[in-house]
Amino acid sequence: MSKYLVDDTRKVTTLRLKELKKQGKKIAMLTSYDFTLAKLVDEAGIDVILVGDSASNVIAGNSTTLPITVDQMIYHAKAVVRATSRALVVCDMPFGSYQVNPTEGAMNAIRIMKETGCDCLKLEGGAEIIDTVKKILDVGIPIMGHLGLRPQSINKYGTFAVRAQDEEEARKLISDAHLLEEAGCCAIVIEKVPAKLATQVASELSIPVIGIGAGHGVDGQVLVLQDMLGMDRGFSPKFLRRYADLSRIITDAVGQYIIDVKNVAFPNDQEEY
Ligand code: KIV
Repeated sequence: MSKYLVDDTRKVTTLRLKELKKQGKKIAMLTSYDFTLAKLVDEAGIDVILVGDSASNVIAGNSTTLPITVDQMIYHAKAVVRATSRALVVCDMPFGSYQVNPTEGAMNAIRIMKETGCDCLKLEGGAEIIDTVKKILDVGIPIMGHLGLRPQSINKYGTFAVRAQDEEEARKLISDAHLLEEAGCCAIVIEKVPAKLATQVASELSIPVIGIGAGHGVDGQVLVLQDMLGMDRGFSPKFLRRYADLSRIITDAVGQYIIDVKNVAFPNDQEEY
């Protein structure tokens, strides 16, 4: 067993995710969008790397995930797949690529799988997209669902507040989770809902429920890599734990470089040809 509690060096598959749940072992998942960071994340032993459409916010600086395109998701996912040998790589289907009809959804899903070599796709929604989910699964592509706060629907909600706090939305979430499991999804991400509700869903399903802002009673956790590394000082939701202060480390390093260049302290004699 490695110092990071990784006890199995084999490539993680969707089947393995279900085994982990059966064995009561938690699943660790993080986002990555590029080769350099994905390689470090994979080498540390993460179980799942999500090429999230949060790349729209984190990499491109957009205020929502809506603008990112299929082409851009393919670009990010290809870089991550190249960097990864152990983790299961899941790629988000971006807004607009699967909501219109099952055929278009399946065609985009096939294209993303073919061009990226990723292992699985993630789609946001329950009953509204179940025919598309079934069509993509029928083609042979594994799907991770995404319920609770669904960032692609942020304009409908009008708020990033905790979802499913009332009984009607909580009931729909439970029903959607069962629908996705029955359709054949390999796991479900549940974002920003009361911990009690997420725990209930995880206990009712046999597929893993991976939470973000959903408490510890679920089968695994996912965070946005740059957030947990402390690269964005301005983003501090309650659920976020920062495992590093990279914004300070990077600013200090860049500042020291500026000082050295201005003082002609870099490069020195050993650093020239
Ligand atoms: O795109 C993303 O980063 C996500 C996570 C928040 C789960 O979907």
